[in-house]
Formats: sequence, C-alpha cells, structure tokens
Amino acid sequence: MSEPLKVAIAGLGTVGVGTIQVLTSHADQVAARCGRPIQITAVSARNRQKEREADISSYAWFNDPVAMAKEADADVIVELIGGSTGTALDLTREALAAGRHVVTANKALIAEAGAGLAVAAEASGKALAYEAAVAGGIPIIKALREGLAGNSVSRVLGILNGTCNYILSTMDETGRDFDDVP
Ligand SMILES: NC(=O)c1ccc[n+]([C@@H]2O[C@H](COP(=O)([O-])OP(=O)(O)OC[C@H]3O[C@@H](n4cnc5c(N)ncnc54)[C@H](OP(=O)(O)O)[C@@H]3O)[C@@H](O)[C@H]2O)c1
Repeated sequence: MSEPLKVAIAGLGTVGVGTIQVLTSHADQVAARCGRPIQITAVSARNRQKEREADISSYAWFNDPVAMAKEADADVIVELIGGSTGTALDLTREALAAGRHVVTANKALIAEAGAGLAVAAEASGKALAYEAAVAGGIPIIKALREGLAGNSVSRVLGILNGTCNYILSTMDETGRDFDDVP
C-alpha cells in the first residue's frame, strides 16, 4: 500500500465532523478503494474547546486556518468553513499557492470566486475539487468532466428544492407524518 494521503480539515461543523467520521469509520474501505490510506493530520476551527462528535485529539490543532493551509503536514487542505470572502477564500488561495490540493464544499466560494481559484489551481498544478459544493455532493462534476468528456454539454439545468429537505428532516426529527409537515 502506498504512503497515506495527508489531509488537513478547516471547519469542524456539520460537514467537517461528518468528513472526519466517514474517513475514520470507513478508513479500511477508503484505503482499499483509493489504493492508499487517507490520514487526517491537522484541523482548525474557531473554538478549540467546543465539544464535537469526533475525536480530534490526535490531530494537530491550528487556531488560524490560513496558517494551517500553509504550514500543516498535508497534501490536501479541505475547506469546510463557508463564505465567499475572508477566511475561506484566504485559506484556499494560500493552500494552492503553497502547492496543496484543495477540496471544498463551499457553494458561495465556488460561485463568487471559483473562476479565479481555478486559474490559481491550474497555475500551481494542483486540484481544486468542489464536487461537494454542487447539488449536495451528487457526483455530477466528475460525470461531466470524465464520463461525458466526449459529449458537448451546452447547459445544465436543475431544480432547487429546499422544501423537500425541510419536510424530510422534520419528519425524521419529530416523527410527524408527511401530510402533517408541509
Ligand atoms: N451542512 C450541509 O448539509 C452542507 C452541505 C453541502 C455543503 N455545505 C457547505 O459546507 C460548508 C460548511 O458547512 P457546515 O454546515 O459544516 O457549517 P457549520 O456547521 O456552520 O461549520 C462551520 C465551521 O467553520 C468554523 N469556522 C467558521 N468561521 C471560522 C473562522 N473564521 N476560522 C476558523 N474556523 C471557522 C466553525 O468553527 P466552530 O465550530 O469552532 O464555531 C465551524 O466548525 C459551507 O460552505 C456549506 O455551504 C454544507
């Protein structure tokens, strides 16, 4: 098995903690499928003392995610903070400039600054991966880039359906019936 791919995660909220849970609980499966293990080496968020649903005690802690993007022992920086300006943008730029790949779930960042970041990624020869920022992680970007590479796609249409998520989450959280929730 190859050397582990080292990952540093900025943002330990819903998505950040979920990412740690998946990468740790499915570590063997992920390693087998990827051909190398994925090792979380560092994390950053606002409040180090906050209780989180993941054990982060073995990872290096950075108070400043922008510093982490430059200094962490990591091949990949995962940006899960949110927002199209400020920290999320700064750390993404710094990570690419420092020669690290970036993975982000940040819709606002990609919508507002994605084109410039893509240029920066190309210049540094690193990946800017944003599958999770599009359609809740439905793997459409990879399908368009690779599976449909021989096709000419002129536009992509979608339906924004937050209501469905609201209904299903409320049913799940409260046990109420479908007819009762909307
Ligand atoms: N939630 C979803 O279902 C979902 C789905 C797809 C994509 N996304 C995208 O994923 C990203 C993260 O979403 P989320 O729901 O996980 O957000 P969240 O629960 O609000 O978590 C945000 C995290 O970022 C940290 N943070 C915020 N500002 C910071 C700063 N200035 N410096 C360092 N850390 C900072 C917070 O630290 P503390 O914990 O210490 O406060 C928190 O851990 C967003 O771009 C969102 O649009 C979310």
